Amino acid sequence: MKNMDLLNLLLDRRSCRKFRPEPLDRPTLAAIVEAGRYAPSAMNGQLCRFYVITDPQMLQRISDTVSRRLKGFEEKDCRYGAPALVLVTNQESNGCALQDAACAMENMMLAASAVGVGSCWINQPYHLRKDEEMQALLTELGAQSGEFPCCSLALGLPEGPLFPGRREHTGNGVTWVTGEKNS
Ligand SMILES: Cc1cc2nc3c(=O)[nH]c(=O)nc-3n(C[C@H](O)[C@H](O)[C@H](O)COP(=O)(O)O)c2cc1C
Repeated sequence: MKNMDLLNLLLDRRSCRKFRPEPLDRPTLAAIVEAGRYAPSAMNGQLCRFYVITDPQMLQRISDTVSRRLKGFEEKDCRYGAPALVLVTNQESNGCALQDAACAMENMMLAASAVGVGSCWINQPYHLRKDEEMQALLTELGAQSGEFPCCSLALGLPEGPLFPGRREHTGNGVTWVTGEKNS
């Protein structure tokens, strides 16, 4: 898949929810996060912060916090056992915080696919952004006041195929407005 061109990669990327337990090497993780850092941001603010978490204990604590504090996750590991999680924060004062974070996430998901790594957007840290246990974990990671979790990305080697097949998209309608008749 290394030479897959970008347009095919865009259409073939899929979320991975079954990860192999072995850790990713640091250069691979760093390349994925660098793609996130180079995402566009409103007014080029570059206000995202990326917490690259590979410490098994911290990963477990994040999963446990979600299980304890978020209804419906009592029996689940929200990160699907992935050996790495990139938590993306931004500033509460940034009106485009979520949009900036989303651009970074898409860049990282595509970069992950390009280097053979499975990824899945994990949104639960955002849902717990006002939860004191999640906030305490963030503080432990080094987050400053005014920073909030926008989203996170589970990363790891996929248990199955990285590209299990292109899935037809029937939503996301398109309206063309060309000014021409019968366009
Ligand atoms: C904003 C957003 C939030 C998401 N949150 C989660 C999540 O918390 N857990 C999860 O397993 N997948 C999550 N996903 C992944 C979507 O479920 C997935 O992208 C969608 O089902 C399409 O599948 P695909 O990524 O394989 O094309 C999220 C995706 C987005 C864009």
